[in-house]
Amino acid sequence: MAETPLKVLGLSGSIGRTSKNGMLVDLALHKAEALGAEVHFWDLESKPLPLVGEDGCWSHPNVKEFQEMASSCDAFLVSSPEYHGTMSGVMKNTFDWVYENHVGGKVFGLMSTLGGISNSNTLNHMRIMLRWLHGNPVSQQLAVGHVKEAFADDGSLVDASMDERLQTLVESVLKTATMYRNS
Ligand SMILES: Cc1cc2nc3c(=O)[nH]c(=O)nc-3n(C[C@H](O)[C@H](O)[C@H](O)COP(=O)(O)O)c2cc1C
Repeated sequence: MAETPLKVLGLSGSIGRTSKNGMLVDLALHKAEALGAEVHFWDLESKPLPLVGEDGCWSHPNVKEFQEMASSCDAFLVSSPEYHGTMSGVMKNTFDWVYENHVGGKVFGLMSTLGGISNSNTLNHMRIMLRWLHGNPVSQQLAVGHVKEAFADDGSLVDASMDERLQTLVESVLKTATMYRNS
């Protein structure tokens, strides 16, 4: 870990921390915190981001705060539900509020949840989107299929191998962000 803790922002493509994506991001953030990172979660329930283009959006105070928060972070742990084979509109709208000057050259850990069988569509689409923002997703990633059954009552992942994959993903994000900071 770097001497000053790495600052990590969690982003969910579902609204609400008790959504499956909110829970998955929270799990990832807890792991990052246990490894010494300073963690934050952008909660769209308490700080909604307007739709890009709607009346008043360009001067919305939450947008400015979100962009400042993103600029101040070293890395991002991001999870989107798969909607019709790609990321949710909420996830895309969240990313539409940041540009290269906020997230360029920064590290991303990508996760996705699916109602059905696990696949990598949403993860791949997020990688393509991040290329336009010059963000750097690590190669590890996590897709949680049949998500309704994936979490235990205490919020942990039922499948221990899935939890191990999440741990590896978070470790890779922090290791890469530390290397970037020291380079
Ligand atoms: C509009 C919509 C489209 C969806 N499309 C898919 C899909 O293409 N594939 C799939 O496996 N699940 C699909 N689902 C199920 C969601 O992926 C699932 O409900 C979500 O991952 C649960 O996470 P959440 O609690 O954070 O919303 C869809 C759900 C909605 C509401």
